[in-house]
Amino acid sequence: MNIFKYSIEHYKDLNAKLIKIIESNKAYIKTDKGEDVYTDFNKPIMDYGKEFITEIWPTLQTFLKTNYHKKINVGNAWFQSYKNNQYHSWHTHQGCQFSAVYYIELPNNKITTEFYDIFKKKSYIPKDIKEGDLLIFNSSTLHRSPENNSNQRKTVISFNFDISDSESPDL
Ligand SMILES: [Fe+2]
Repeated sequence: MNIFKYSIEHYKDLNAKLIKIIESNKAYIKTDKGEDVYTDFNKPIMDYGKEFITEIWPTLQTFLKTNYHKKINVGNAWFQSYKNNQYHSWHTHQGCQFSAVYYIELPNNKITTEFYDIFKKKSYIPKDIKEGDLLIFNSSTLHRSPENNSNQRKTVISFNFDISDSESPDL
């Protein structure tokens, strides 16, 4: 399973800014269906986008280069916040090539995003993920956010993107 992991260098300053913006965002939505996470998924504009995308842009360029492409088009982005007992069940993201999750608040490693490997028929939680890390994966990969069994909040930013303008690989 191809899951790319990056660590954002100045994540502490970035995360402090992002949390401030997210917490002041009174318009966020609480969904129901037993998955009552806090999110701005349905909001057309993300208030923290400029801060966030600017900071991770060099990392996205590295990802592009690794994948032999030159252009990136970031589509929708949203935050999700999980308090005690909150979770997001198995799902994929549609209409995009890649999806990413950036960890702003991660109380422990057991509630990192869990992925499902359809070939091995087992789930997989990437090891040693910490706040400030960015995971990128194919959008068709099944994944979920396990139930937050801690008393601290977990907060992520997720986004979808496409890459284009292919280059020849090194043969
Ligand atoms: Fe997701």
